[in-house]
Amino acid sequence: MTQHYVLAIDQGTTSTRCILFDQRAQLAGVAQREHQQYYPRPGWVEQDAMEIWRNVDRIVPQVLRNAGVGVEQIAALGIANQRETSVVWDRRTGNPIGHAVVWQDVRTEELVAEFEKRPGAQRIRQLCGLPLATYFAAPRLRWMLDTTPGLRERAERGEVLFGTMETWLIWNLTGGVDGGEHVTDVTNASRTLLMNLASLSWDPELLEFFGIPAAMLPRIQPSTASYGTTRRVVPGIRIAAALGDQHAALFGQTCFARGETKCTYGTGGFLMMNTGGEIVQSTHGLLTTIGYQIDRDPVYALEGPIAVTGSLVQWIRDNIGLVASAPEIETLARTVEDNGGCCIVPAFSGLYAPHWRSDARGLVIGLTSYITKGHLARAVLEATAWQTRDVVDAMNADSGLQAATLRVDGGMTSNNLLMQMVADFLGIPVMRPFVPETVSLGAAYAAGLAVGYWPDLQGLRNNWRPAGRWAPRLDPVRREDQYDDWKRAVQLSFGWARR
Ligand code: G3P
Repeated sequence: MTQHYVLAIDQGTTSTRCILFDQRAQLAGVAQREHQQYYPRPGWVEQDAMEIWRNVDRIVPQVLRNAGVGVEQIAALGIANQRETSVVWDRRTGNPIGHAVVWQDVRTEELVAEFEKRPGAQRIRQLCGLPLATYFAAPRLRWMLDTTPGLRERAERGEVLFGTMETWLIWNLTGGVDGGEHVTDVTNASRTLLMNLASLSWDPELLEFFGIPAAMLPRIQPSTASYGTTRRVVPGIRIAAALGDQHAALFGQTCFARGETKCTYGTGGFLMMNTGGEIVQSTHGLLTTIGYQIDRDPVYALEGPIAVTGSLVQWIRDNIGLVASAPEIETLARTVEDNGGCCIVPAFSGLYAPHWRSDARGLVIGLTSYITKGHLARAVLEATAWQTRDVVDAMNADSGLQAATLRVDGGMTSNNLLMQMVADFLGIPVMRPFVPETVSLGAAYAAGLAVGYWPDLQGLRNNWRPAGRWAPRLDPVRREDQYDDWKRAVQLSFGWARR
């Protein structure tokens, strides 16, 4: 029988989705389940890896059943996932050891500060492209090894395994305790602080620095590779690709050429620029990462994560009550011409790229009795657009390239006013694709490419069709004046957490 579809799993921070795509990249079926978040102490964020696995066990058959599609019609499966969230489990029982510790969790703040003082700390960025921060996996794995009695010894004997979510799911899908594959891909491995960006293997110096036993780590593979065949849930599907979700979005947006840049707007914003075969060491506050690895040679990327974008709209809706629903923010913002001189910096948990100031806190500035709800709504949206500008400027400066357009996806891209602001503040066109599910699509593309379901990158590019395009309209002089105001406001947010 002809294989008509490719399946994708997007294991995200708040939910897991399973999507079936056809050859023209159209959605043929979708199922989704949320999982619980645990906040046992301030700054701690955990998830139950077993709950996530059970969700996969339910949604994969559900999608196939609803679409009336049999396993023999599936060419391949690709997996994309929330990155950096770490889980350790017992190889013999398959049970996780405690909860998974999520990428937002900051319990390792003190540990990271301690690591910073150790000899060798200044070499980390050069080896793996990342700054030493609580965001990445190695400090939280070290924390688990230090705080769980006997875990280090068991890890050294290879009795317990480490993984990010794709590793955990692939191990379970391919057999679990009965010989599941213990593998990861280069993009996910590039977010651990443990992989050497040039050799694409676990770096002995970094393992030594963080005190991580190599025996517990998965095998690193290219993003498209043989990840085994499912033996559980729906047996007989080839797993042909795995990528971190933001890398999958870059691929799904078909940003295959140097300088092509995407931004995914969710609760936070994630920008990534393709830098081709070049490892660009950032001097402007960005992360160096692997975009994807399809063939032998990896494609590198610069990434700028923004902590708060959509969550500012949620906050102003739920905690302040400025609007009753998220889409209303656009209606309210359209009641005024400009922000009336007020500016909001949403540094709720400090600022990520390109500032990396954990001591920054949010502020609203420029208030006068002239300011209305409309001005505040406008300032909320502008905060996302200016943060995008901060990161794109850093990308251009670091890479020596110039982003010519910005490809966007994610929930906030349905806000047309915001998309116009992004185009205005960047001074380049912003484009939204017809298929908004770019994370899942990227995983599907990579898997489909691996098995010959799609012929080549050009074939994938041909599927990319714009559903929205915004050209810059703002006068450049006015734009730069307003940008100066934003930069002054950002400076004022620095250091507030110390008081
Ligand atoms: O680095 C964290 C990122 O991969 C999470 O993305 O969309 O699951 O919140 P998301």
